[in-house]
Amino acid sequence: MATETVQPIRFVGQACGQLELLDQTLLPQQLTYITCADVETVWEAIKMLRVRGAPAIGISAAYGVVVGLQTATGKSDEEFWARFDEVTDYLAESRPTAVNLFWALNRMKEKALSLKAAGKSIAEVHADLLTEAIAIHNEDREMCHAIGKHGANLLHSGQGVLTHCNAGGLATSEYGTALSVFFTAQDQGKRLHVYVDETRPLLQGARLTAWELMQRQIPATLICDSMAAQVMKEGRVQAIVTGADRIAANGDSCNKIGTYALSVLAKYHGIPFYIAAPSSTFDLSIESGDEIPIEERKPEEITNGMGKRTAPEHVKVYNPAFDVAPAELIAGIITEHGVISPVNKENVAAMLSSGG
Ligand code: MRU
Repeated sequence: MATETVQPIRFVGQACGQLELLDQTLLPQQLTYITCADVETVWEAIKMLRVRGAPAIGISAAYGVVVGLQTATGKSDEEFWARFDEVTDYLAESRPTAVNLFWALNRMKEKALSLKAAGKSIAEVHADLLTEAIAIHNEDREMCHAIGKHGANLLHSGQGVLTHCNAGGLATSEYGTALSVFFTAQDQGKRLHVYVDETRPLLQGARLTAWELMQRQIPATLICDSMAAQVMKEGRVQAIVTGADRIAANGDSCNKIGTYALSVLAKYHGIPFYIAAPSSTFDLSIESGDEIPIEERKPEEITNGMGKRTAPEHVKVYNPAFDVAPAELIAGIITEHGVISPVNKENVAAMLSSGG
């Protein structure tokens, strides 16, 4: 099945319907959807990376609000609104770094408050919140395609490019951010060769990005993260494009652990390093990347990766899941409105406020 037809997230039915998530922990071996009949299942799916990638986390959380409210539709207004707060607070605790989660929950809150102020019934509020979640989902599709168009202009046929983690269709509504740039370039007839960092410790590059690129028959070569410097030194890479989980007002961009190292290596080798991300990934409430909360995950992801013990029992482990590429090392941030370059506070604000 071609990746363009794979939907990582789908909602079936009306507000009392079901959220279905493609379980990305089983890829590439199995294409299996899990049904989220309650908000706890949505929370667990986000926490355990069954659904992952900043935009996909936000979309899932928006639908998660609708699912979480299903137990409160027959209750009093007071109980319904208490449940609304409970569900949104709970989902906000699933993962800390990707700002799209909080962006989507805030948007659902704002919508809910406007419906409440308009005196809508509980049933109407629930139905309209599903409409809002669907709008978030559909808008993400449009943003991904627009990012692809802006980013593809930066690439030339015959180039080698490198990416990290998975910022493809699986991480978004369907087309991706960094991978959307490659997909669009391919649609324009440009021939690229993509080097894919395997992305330790959870291997999103090897399991997901390599799979997506192969589905689209884009030439791709998998490398270990520690090989990126050598591949650059050998002259195989002319541009690097990754996604982001949160971008501060000054353009500092947080993404999967290993991205910071790539930005430093790119500078040394004179290779442009780009971030591709929608406006929902910007957090203008923080000045710099220093304020971005970095998720720390379980030691077992390193000592027992993919179910096999690869380190001594009781060894001390540090497992930060993200790091920050400083704005000064980023050649451009590719958004749905255009490319921010040079990357600085003024240009970030101008691009986001003008919408282009
Ligand atoms: O821990 P993950 O797999 O959710 O991390 C995902 C990333 O770091 C992606 O690069 C980022 O969310 C951008 S997705 C378009």
